[in-house]
Amino acid sequence: MAQDSDTPAALRRTAEEGARMAGRILRERFPQHRTIEFKGGIDLVTDADRASEAALLDFLRERHPHHAILAEESGAWQGTDTFRWLVDPLDGTTNYAHQVPHFCVSVAVEGPEGVIAGAVYDPMLDELFSAAKGEGATLNGRPIQASPAEHLERALLCTGFPYDVRERPDLPVGLFTQLILLAQGMRRTGSAALDLAYVAAGRFDGYFEFGLKPWDIAAGGLLVAEAGGVIVHIDGGPFDVLKGDVLASGAALHPLLLAQAKRFLAELHWKSRD
Ligand code: IPD
Ligand code: CA
Ligand code: CA
Ligand code: CA
Repeated sequence: MAQDSDTPAALRRTAEEGARMAGRILRERFPQHRTIEFKGGIDLVTDADRASEAALLDFLRERHPHHAILAEESGAWQGTDTFRWLVDPLDGTTNYAHQVPHFCVSVAVEGPEGVIAGAVYDPMLDELFSAAKGEGATLNGRPIQASPAEHLERALLCTGFPYDVRERPDLPVGLFTQLILLAQGMRRTGSAALDLAYVAAGRFDGYFEFGLKPWDIAAGGLLVAEAGGVIVHIDGGPFDVLKGDVLASGAALHPLLLAQAKRFLAELHWKSRD
């Protein structure tokens, strides 16, 4: 049965509180020595990812013992009702491992009809982005809006590359190469959740990335939509946290960016038939 603590507004406050609490852990550990383990040839995890995740899981289980959780480092935790938390305890691990102060905590919760609340917290700038479905998006409590940009040549775009980019460079490198020649500029910041939060805040005009995971995009996707932007699957289909190839932008730029993405995908498909 639905509880008072399960309304979008209450879940948003829980996401905000959890993201802030975990962000403090990341900030405190940032100047300290860190332990780095490799999950593959390139993909890595630090002691800070694990400490942040452990604290978040304790926090969410105490608040919502019946909710399910999917967290990057420890996987899935089954619940007995329909809510599921999607947790990235440190988005931007490569930056963190190299002492680059650009990373965040991303916490979102989904119900049967998709993501309903989420928060992205940058502890180094003390910036908290949050949203609840139908209630808009804010940065430190103030409403934010996605960019009104209409032209690619005036647009600052952003992208990222998956850890296994060497194994399948065609999509990310190909679309990057196409768009870098058309946009005002292109950034690769190393934190997908913050990239989406920046689209929601109108700092980036557009963003695309391939191969993302649900915890990377759940909160950020809701932020973009609630800030009046558009987020879709890269082929124009509906946004789905389980399909991690995404395209996001302000509403005015969306048709142009989508046309570029579709052209690119069609040409790639056509070439791969040779
Ligand atoms: C990564 C970051 C990065 C993106 C990668 C993600 P992590 O997440 O969001 O910007 O390009 O695809 O895996 O490992 O730092 O949580
Ligand atoms: Ca991530
Ligand atoms: Ca992570
Ligand atoms: Ca990771």
